[in-house]
Amino acid sequence: MKTLIKNIKLLVQTEQNPKKWVAGADMAKIDNIENAYLIIENDKIFDFGEMKNLPKIKFDKEYDASGKLVFPSFCDSHTHLVYAGSREIEYIDKIKGLSYEEIAKRGGGILNSAKLLANTSEDELYKQSLERINEIIMLGTGAVEIKSGYGLNTENELKMLRVIKRLKETTDIEIKSTFLGAHSIPLEYKTNQTEFVDLVINEMLPQVAAEDLADYIDVFCDKGFFTPQDTDRILMAGMKYGLRAKIHANELDYSGGVQIGVKYNAISVDHLEYTGDDEIKELLNSETMPTILPGAAFFLGMIDTPVRKMINAGLPIALASDFNPGSSPSGNMKLIMSFGIIKLKMLPEEVINAVTINTAYAMGLSETHGSIAKGKIANFFITKEIPTYQFMAYAYGSNLIDKVFLKGKEVIQNTNNISSNI
Ligand code: NIG
Ligand code: FE
Repeated sequence: MKTLIKNIKLLVQTEQNPKKWVAGADMAKIDNIENAYLIIENDKIFDFGEMKNLPKIKFDKEYDASGKLVFPSFCDSHTHLVYAGSREIEYIDKIKGLSYEEIAKRGGGILNSAKLLANTSEDELYKQSLERINEIIMLGTGAVEIKSGYGLNTENELKMLRVIKRLKETTDIEIKSTFLGAHSIPLEYKTNQTEFVDLVINEMLPQVAAEDLADYIDVFCDKGFFTPQDTDRILMAGMKYGLRAKIHANELDYSGGVQIGVKYNAISVDHLEYTGDDEIKELLNSETMPTILPGAAFFLGMIDTPVRKMINAGLPIALASDFNPGSSPSGNMKLIMSFGIIKLKMLPEEVINAVTINTAYAMGLSETHGSIAKGKIANFFITKEIPTYQFMAYAYGSNLIDKVFLKGKEVIQNTNNISSNI
Protein backbone atom coordinates (compact mmCIF):
# COMPACT_ATOMS: atom_id res chain seq x y z
CA MET A 1 0.00 0.00 0.00
CA LYS A 2 1.66 3.24 -1.18
CA THR A 3 0.21 6.71 -0.64
CA LEU A 4 1.50 9.88 -2.27
CA ILE A 5 1.12 13.43 -0.96
CA LYS A 6 2.10 15.64 -3.89
CA ASN A 7 2.67 19.33 -4.65
CA ILE A 8 3.33 20.13 -0.98
CA LYS A 9 4.09 23.85 -0.78
CA LEU A 10 6.50 23.19 2.10
CA LEU A 11 7.43 19.91 3.75
CA VAL A 12 8.50 20.95 7.25
CA GLN A 13 11.02 19.41 9.68
CA THR A 14 12.66 16.87 7.38
CA GLU A 15 15.72 14.91 8.48
CA GLN A 16 18.26 13.04 6.33
CA ASN A 17 20.24 11.86 9.36
CA PRO A 18 17.84 11.62 12.28
CA LYS A 19 19.00 13.10 15.58
CA LYS A 20 17.98 12.19 19.09
CA TRP A 21 17.31 15.85 20.00
CA VAL A 22 18.24 19.39 19.03
CA ALA A 23 19.99 21.74 21.50
CA GLY A 24 21.30 25.29 21.88
CA ALA A 25 21.89 27.27 18.68
CA ASP A 26 20.76 24.27 16.57
CA MET A 27 17.26 24.73 17.94
CA ALA A 28 16.87 27.68 15.56
CA LYS A 29 17.45 25.43 12.52
CA ILE A 30 14.96 23.22 10.72
CA ASP A 31 15.22 21.63 7.27
CA ASN A 32 12.28 22.11 4.95
CA ILE A 33 11.67 21.19 1.30
CA GLU A 34 9.71 23.46 -1.05
CA ASN A 35 7.35 22.00 -3.67
CA ALA A 36 7.76 18.55 -2.22
CA TYR A 37 6.34 15.05 -2.30
CA LEU A 38 5.94 12.56 0.55
CA ILE A 39 5.46 8.84 -0.03
CA ILE A 40 4.01 6.56 2.63
CA GLU A 41 4.28 2.78 2.54
CA ASN A 42 1.84 1.15 4.93
CA ASP A 43 2.42 2.86 8.29
CA LYS A 44 5.87 4.34 7.56
CA ILE A 45 7.50 7.20 5.68
CA PHE A 46 9.00 5.62 2.56
CA ASP A 47 10.48 8.58 0.72
CA PHE A 48 10.29 12.36 0.31
CA GLY A 49 11.91 15.03 -1.82
CA GLU A 50 11.36 17.72 -4.45
CA MET A 51 8.50 17.22 -6.92
CA LYS A 52 10.94 17.29 -9.83
CA ASN A 53 12.47 14.06 -8.46
CA LEU A 54 9.18 12.23 -7.85
CA PRO A 55 9.75 8.56 -8.71
CA LYS A 56 7.61 7.21 -11.53
CA ILE A 57 5.83 4.48 -9.62
CA LYS A 58 2.21 3.55 -9.12
CA PHE A 59 0.40 4.76 -6.00
CA ASP A 60 -2.70 3.30 -4.39
CA LYS A 61 -3.87 6.68 -3.19
CA GLU A 62 -2.89 10.32 -3.91
CA TYR A 63 -3.49 13.60 -2.14
CA ASP A 64 -2.81 17.02 -3.70
CA ALA A 65 -1.42 19.45 -1.10
CA SER A 66 -1.06 22.50 -3.39
CA GLY A 67 -0.74 25.67 -1.32
CA LYS A 68 -0.53 23.60 1.87
CA LEU A 69 2.22 22.64 4.30
CA VAL A 70 2.97 19.24 5.79
CA PHE A 71 4.28 18.98 9.37
CA PRO A 72 5.27 15.90 11.38
CA SER A 73 2.62 15.33 14.07
CA PHE A 74 3.15 17.00 17.41
CA CYS A 75 4.57 14.83 20.17
CA ASP A 76 3.05 15.80 23.52
CA SER A 77 5.37 14.36 26.15
CA HIS A 78 3.52 15.44 29.31
CA THR A 79 -0.22 15.08 29.91
CA HIS A 80 -2.68 13.97 32.56
CA LEU A 81 -5.51 13.48 30.09
CA VAL A 82 -7.06 10.50 31.85
CA TYR A 83 -9.20 12.25 34.44
CA ALA A 84 -12.82 12.36 35.54
CA GLY A 85 -15.05 15.41 35.15
CA SER A 86 -13.56 18.90 35.23
CA ARG A 87 -12.66 21.68 37.68
CA GLU A 88 -13.94 24.93 36.17
CA ILE A 89 -15.91 25.77 39.34
CA GLU A 90 -12.75 25.53 41.44
CA TYR A 91 -11.05 27.95 39.03
CA ILE A 92 -13.39 30.64 40.34
CA ASP A 93 -11.41 30.53 43.63
CA LYS A 94 -8.33 31.17 41.55
CA ILE A 95 -9.99 34.15 39.87
CA LYS A 96 -10.84 35.49 43.32
CA GLY A 97 -7.20 35.34 44.35
CA LEU A 98 -6.42 31.95 45.92
CA SER A 99 -3.17 30.35 44.79
CA TYR A 100 -2.82 26.84 43.36
CA GLU A 101 -1.24 25.71 46.63
CA GLU A 102 -3.99 27.31 48.75
CA ILE A 103 -6.68 25.58 46.70
CA ALA A 104 -4.81 22.27 47.12
CA LYS A 105 -4.51 22.78 50.89
CA ARG A 106 -8.31 23.15 51.18
CA GLY A 107 -8.82 19.72 49.60
CA GLY A 108 -9.33 21.15 46.11
CA GLY A 109 -6.97 20.65 43.24
CA ILE A 110 -5.60 17.17 42.66
CA LEU A 111 -7.54 15.83 45.67
CA ASN A 112 -10.77 17.08 44.11
CA SER A 113 -9.97 15.19 40.89
CA ALA A 114 -9.11 12.11 42.96
CA LYS A 115 -12.57 12.18 44.54
CA LEU A 116 -14.25 12.49 41.15
CA LEU A 117 -12.12 9.67 39.77
CA ALA A 118 -12.89 7.33 42.66
CA ASN A 119 -16.60 7.74 41.85
CA THR A 120 -16.16 7.04 38.13
CA SER A 121 -16.15 3.53 36.67
CA GLU A 122 -13.26 2.31 34.53
CA ASP A 123 -15.52 2.23 31.45
CA GLU A 124 -16.74 5.77 31.99
CA LEU A 125 -13.18 6.98 32.59
CA TYR A 126 -12.12 5.32 29.34
CA LYS A 127 -14.99 7.00 27.49
CA GLN A 128 -14.17 10.49 28.81
CA SER A 129 -10.47 10.01 28.10
CA LEU A 130 -11.07 8.68 24.58
CA GLU A 131 -12.95 11.88 23.77
CA ARG A 132 -9.90 13.90 24.79
CA ILE A 133 -7.64 11.63 22.74
CA ASN A 134 -9.88 12.10 19.71
CA GLU A 135 -9.79 15.85 20.25
CA ILE A 136 -5.99 16.06 20.37
CA ILE A 137 -5.62 13.79 17.34
CA MET A 138 -7.61 16.28 15.27
CA LEU A 139 -5.43 19.07 16.74
CA GLY A 140 -2.37 17.41 15.19
CA THR A 141 -0.91 15.30 18.02
CA GLY A 142 0.48 11.93 16.94
CA ALA A 143 2.19 10.75 20.12
CA VAL A 144 1.24 11.47 23.72
CA GLU A 145 2.43 10.58 27.20
CA ILE A 146 -0.27 10.10 29.83
CA LYS A 147 0.23 9.96 33.60
CA SER A 148 -1.71 8.38 36.41
CA GLY A 149 -1.84 10.42 39.62
CA TYR A 150 -5.51 11.07 40.35
CA GLY A 151 -5.90 7.70 42.06
CA LEU A 152 -3.89 8.35 45.23
CA ASN A 153 -4.61 4.79 46.31
CA THR A 154 -3.70 1.47 44.74
CA GLU A 155 -7.12 0.59 43.37
CA ASN A 156 -7.65 3.88 41.58
CA GLU A 157 -4.07 4.27 40.34
CA LEU A 158 -4.42 0.84 38.73
CA LYS A 159 -7.76 1.90 37.28
CA MET A 160 -6.15 4.92 35.59
CA LEU A 161 -3.22 2.91 34.26
CA ARG A 162 -5.54 0.22 32.88
CA VAL A 163 -7.47 2.93 31.07
CA ILE A 164 -4.21 4.21 29.55
CA LYS A 165 -3.38 0.65 28.48
CA ARG A 166 -6.80 0.30 26.85
CA LEU A 167 -6.29 3.60 25.03
CA LYS A 168 -2.95 2.25 23.73
CA GLU A 169 -4.70 -0.84 22.42
CA THR A 170 -7.69 0.87 20.83
CA THR A 171 -6.31 4.02 19.17
CA ASP A 172 -3.77 4.75 16.42
CA ILE A 173 -2.00 7.52 18.33
CA GLU A 174 1.29 6.45 19.98
CA ILE A 175 0.92 6.44 23.78
CA LYS A 176 3.45 6.21 26.61
CA SER A 177 2.28 5.61 30.15
CA THR A 178 3.71 7.07 33.36
CA PHE A 179 3.05 5.98 36.94
CA LEU A 180 2.61 9.10 39.09
CA GLY A 181 1.54 7.57 42.41
CA ALA A 182 3.18 10.49 44.22
CA HIS A 183 1.15 13.34 42.73
CA SER A 184 -0.41 14.73 45.92
CA ILE A 185 -0.63 13.75 49.58
CA PRO A 186 -4.09 12.41 50.52
CA LEU A 187 -5.65 14.23 53.50
CA GLU A 188 -5.42 11.14 55.73
CA TYR A 189 -1.63 11.11 55.25
CA LYS A 190 -1.12 14.86 55.78
CA THR A 191 0.65 14.32 59.08
CA ASN A 192 2.53 11.26 57.92
CA GLN A 193 3.79 11.82 54.41
CA THR A 194 6.45 9.10 54.75
CA GLU A 195 3.77 6.50 55.23
CA PHE A 196 2.17 7.52 51.93
CA VAL A 197 5.55 7.30 50.19
CA ASP A 198 5.87 3.80 51.68
CA LEU A 199 2.49 2.91 50.20
CA VAL A 200 3.57 4.13 46.75
CA ILE A 201 6.78 2.11 46.94
CA ASN A 202 5.62 -1.06 48.67
CA GLU A 203 2.06 -1.51 47.49
CA MET A 204 1.35 0.49 44.30
CA LEU A 205 4.62 0.10 42.43
CA PRO A 206 4.90 -3.73 42.61
CA GLN A 207 1.37 -4.10 41.21
CA VAL A 208 1.95 -1.53 38.48
CA ALA A 209 5.09 -3.44 37.50
CA ALA A 210 3.43 -6.86 37.75
CA GLU A 211 0.74 -5.79 35.26
CA ASP A 212 3.35 -4.00 33.12
CA LEU A 213 1.26 -0.84 33.19
CA ALA A 214 3.94 1.87 33.05
CA ASP A 215 6.80 2.99 30.81
CA TYR A 216 8.03 5.72 33.19
CA ILE A 217 7.80 6.83 36.82
CA ASP A 218 7.02 10.37 37.97
CA VAL A 219 6.92 12.32 41.26
CA PHE A 220 5.58 15.83 41.88
CA CYS A 221 8.77 17.06 43.56
CA ASP A 222 7.93 20.56 44.71
CA LYS A 223 7.21 22.89 47.60
CA GLY A 224 4.15 21.64 49.52
CA PHE A 225 4.15 18.29 47.71
CA PHE A 226 6.96 15.68 47.70
CA THR A 227 10.50 16.43 48.94
CA PRO A 228 13.74 15.53 47.17
CA GLN A 229 14.18 12.79 49.82
CA ASP A 230 10.74 11.31 49.03
CA THR A 231 11.57 11.57 45.34
CA ASP A 232 14.92 9.88 45.81
CA ARG A 233 13.26 6.90 47.49
CA ILE A 234 10.54 6.57 44.87
CA LEU A 235 12.88 6.87 41.88
CA MET A 236 15.27 4.34 43.42
CA ALA A 237 12.38 1.90 43.84
CA GLY A 238 11.19 2.57 40.28
CA MET A 239 14.65 1.88 38.92
CA LYS A 240 14.55 -1.61 40.44
CA TYR A 241 11.52 -2.30 38.23
CA GLY A 242 13.25 -0.82 35.18
CA LEU A 243 11.16 2.36 35.18
CA ARG A 244 13.06 5.45 34.04
CA ALA A 245 12.24 8.73 35.76
CA LYS A 246 10.33 11.57 34.18
CA ILE A 247 9.45 14.05 36.91
CA HIS A 248 7.61 17.25 37.83
CA ALA A 249 10.18 19.70 39.18
CA ASN A 250 10.69 23.34 40.09
CA GLU A 251 7.20 24.55 39.24
CA LEU A 252 6.55 26.24 42.57
CA ASP A 253 10.08 26.83 43.88
CA TYR A 254 13.76 25.86 43.58
CA SER A 255 12.72 22.45 44.87
CA GLY A 256 15.84 20.40 44.20
CA GLY A 257 13.78 18.45 41.68
CA VAL A 258 16.06 19.13 38.73
CA GLN A 259 19.09 17.87 40.64
CA ILE A 260 17.35 14.69 41.76
CA GLY A 261 16.05 14.09 38.22
CA VAL A 262 19.52 14.40 36.74
CA LYS A 263 20.93 12.16 39.47
CA TYR A 264 18.56 9.40 38.31
CA ASN A 265 19.19 10.10 34.62
CA ALA A 266 15.55 11.09 34.16
CA ILE A 267 14.50 11.18 30.52
CA SER A 268 12.92 14.57 31.27
CA VAL A 269 12.35 17.06 34.08
CA ASP A 270 9.20 19.06 33.55
CA HIS A 271 7.80 22.55 34.38
CA LEU A 272 11.04 24.31 35.51
CA GLU A 273 9.61 27.78 36.13
CA TYR A 274 12.28 28.06 38.85
CA THR A 275 15.48 27.42 36.89
CA GLY A 276 18.70 29.18 37.90
CA ASP A 277 22.38 28.79 37.07
CA ASP A 278 22.75 25.65 39.20
CA GLU A 279 19.89 23.88 37.45
CA ILE A 280 21.25 24.87 34.02
CA LYS A 281 24.68 23.52 34.92
CA GLU A 282 23.23 20.19 36.07
CA LEU A 283 21.16 19.82 32.92
CA LEU A 284 24.07 20.64 30.60
CA ASN A 285 25.90 17.52 31.76
CA SER A 286 22.94 15.21 31.39
CA GLU A 287 20.76 13.16 29.06
CA THR A 288 17.68 14.77 30.61
CA MET A 289 15.32 16.84 28.46
CA PRO A 290 14.20 20.12 30.10
CA THR A 291 10.49 20.22 29.32
CA ILE A 292 8.49 23.41 29.69
CA LEU A 293 4.70 23.50 30.06
CA PRO A 294 3.73 27.06 29.15
CA GLY A 295 0.00 26.29 29.19
CA ALA A 296 0.18 25.71 32.96
CA ALA A 297 2.19 28.89 33.60
CA PHE A 298 -0.32 30.82 31.47
CA PHE A 299 -3.42 29.32 33.09
CA LEU A 300 -2.15 29.73 36.66
CA GLY A 301 -0.51 33.12 36.05
CA MET A 302 2.90 31.87 37.14
CA ILE A 303 6.32 33.18 36.22
CA ASP A 304 7.73 32.00 32.91
CA THR A 305 10.70 29.64 32.64
CA PRO A 306 13.89 31.46 31.52
CA VAL A 307 13.95 29.53 28.26
CA ARG A 308 16.03 32.06 26.31
CA LYS A 309 18.78 31.81 28.90
CA MET A 310 18.60 28.01 28.82
CA ILE A 311 18.87 27.78 25.01
CA ASN A 312 21.69 30.35 24.98
CA ALA A 313 23.52 28.15 27.51
CA GLY A 314 23.31 25.26 25.03
CA LEU A 315 20.36 23.28 26.40
CA PRO A 316 17.64 21.56 24.40
CA ILE A 317 14.06 22.59 25.22
CA ALA A 318 10.85 20.60 24.80
CA LEU A 319 7.37 22.11 25.04
CA ALA A 320 4.40 19.99 26.12
CA SER A 321 0.76 20.69 26.98
CA ASP A 322 0.37 19.29 30.54
CA PHE A 323 -3.30 18.66 29.53
CA ASN A 324 -5.04 18.30 32.93
CA PRO A 325 -8.15 19.64 34.69
CA GLY A 326 -6.33 21.85 37.22
CA SER A 327 -3.47 23.74 35.67
CA SER A 328 -3.84 23.35 31.91
CA PRO A 329 -7.21 22.23 30.57
CA SER A 330 -6.05 22.12 26.96
CA GLY A 331 -4.12 19.63 24.86
CA ASN A 332 -3.77 22.00 21.91
CA MET A 333 -0.10 21.78 20.93
CA LYS A 334 -0.45 24.49 18.28
CA LEU A 335 -1.45 26.85 21.08
CA ILE A 336 1.61 25.65 23.02
CA MET A 337 3.74 26.69 20.02
CA SER A 338 2.12 30.12 20.24
CA PHE A 339 2.89 30.41 23.95
CA GLY A 340 6.46 29.51 23.01
CA ILE A 341 6.85 32.49 20.70
CA ILE A 342 4.66 34.92 22.65
CA LYS A 343 5.57 34.20 26.27
CA LEU A 344 8.91 32.41 26.12
CA LYS A 345 10.39 34.50 23.28
CA MET A 346 11.34 31.43 21.28
CA LEU A 347 11.84 31.62 17.51
CA PRO A 348 9.35 29.78 15.24
CA GLU A 349 12.00 27.19 14.34
CA GLU A 350 12.81 26.66 18.04
CA VAL A 351 9.18 25.97 18.87
CA ILE A 352 8.87 23.51 15.97
CA ASN A 353 11.86 21.54 17.29
CA ALA A 354 10.46 21.83 20.82
CA VAL A 355 7.08 20.26 19.97
CA THR A 356 8.36 17.54 17.65
CA ILE A 357 11.82 15.97 17.92
CA ASN A 358 12.58 17.14 21.47
CA THR A 359 9.26 16.00 22.90
CA ALA A 360 9.71 12.73 21.00
CA TYR A 361 13.01 12.28 22.89
CA ALA A 362 11.30 13.16 26.19
CA MET A 363 9.04 10.14 25.74
CA GLY A 364 11.62 7.77 24.28
CA LEU A 365 10.33 8.06 20.72
CA SER A 366 12.88 10.10 18.79
CA GLU A 367 13.88 7.11 16.63
CA THR A 368 10.36 6.67 15.31
CA HIS A 369 8.56 10.02 15.69
CA GLY A 370 9.17 13.76 15.75
CA SER A 371 10.29 14.46 12.17
CA ILE A 372 9.78 13.58 8.52
CA ALA A 373 12.49 10.96 8.02
CA LYS A 374 12.63 7.72 6.05
CA GLY A 375 11.46 4.75 8.09
CA LYS A 376 9.75 6.80 10.80
CA ILE A 377 6.07 6.21 11.57
CA ALA A 378 3.89 8.18 9.12
CA ASN A 379 2.20 10.49 11.63
CA PHE A 380 1.81 13.95 10.09
CA PHE A 381 -0.74 16.61 9.19
CA ILE A 382 -1.55 18.71 6.15
CA THR A 383 -2.38 22.35 6.91
CA LYS A 384 -4.97 24.55 5.29
CA GLU A 385 -3.56 26.96 2.69
CA ILE A 386 -1.25 29.17 4.76
CA PRO A 387 1.53 31.56 3.72
CA THR A 388 4.51 30.28 5.75
CA TYR A 389 5.51 27.80 8.45
CA GLN A 390 5.98 30.75 10.81
CA PHE A 391 2.23 31.43 10.44
CA MET A 392 1.37 28.32 12.52
CA ALA A 393 2.56 29.70 15.87
CA TYR A 394 1.66 33.31 15.00
CA ALA A 395 -2.04 32.72 14.16
CA TYR A 396 -2.62 31.61 17.72
CA GLY A 397 -6.39 31.26 17.66
CA SER A 398 -6.99 29.62 14.30
CA ASN A 399 -7.37 25.96 13.54
CA LEU A 400 -5.09 25.59 10.53
CA ILE A 401 -5.08 21.81 10.27
CA ASP A 402 -6.82 20.33 7.25
CA LYS A 403 -6.03 16.59 7.31
CA VAL A 404 -4.45 14.36 9.92
CA PHE A 405 -2.61 11.08 9.21
CA LEU A 406 -1.72 8.44 11.79
CA LYS A 407 0.27 5.35 10.82
CA GLY A 408 -0.08 6.38 7.18
CA LYS A 409 -3.88 6.59 7.17
CA GLU A 410 -6.06 9.67 7.01
CA VAL A 411 -8.06 10.07 10.22
CA ILE A 412 -11.71 10.80 9.58
CA GLN A 413 -13.70 12.20 12.46
CA ASN A 414 -17.39 11.66 12.84
CA THR A 415 -19.48 12.97 15.69
CA ASN A 416 -19.11 9.91 17.91
CA ASN A 417 -15.72 8.47 17.29
CA ILE A 418 -12.70 8.42 15.07
CA SER A 419 -11.93 5.83 12.47
CA SER A 420 -9.09 5.43 10.05
CA ASN A 421 -10.05 5.53 6.41
CA ILE A 422 -8.07 4.69 3.35
O1 NIG B 1 1.44 19.25 36.00
N1 NIG B 1 1.89 19.94 38.97
C1 NIG B 1 1.31 18.88 39.20
N2 NIG B 1 0.40 18.29 38.46
C2 NIG B 1 -0.34 18.89 37.41
C3 NIG B 1 -1.56 19.55 37.90
C4 NIG B 1 -2.59 18.58 38.17
C5 NIG B 1 -3.87 19.16 38.65
O2 NIG B 1 -3.93 20.29 39.18
O3 NIG B 1 -4.85 18.44 38.50
C6 NIG B 1 0.55 19.79 36.62
O4 NIG B 1 0.39 21.01 36.57
FE1 FE C 1 1.91 17.78 34.98
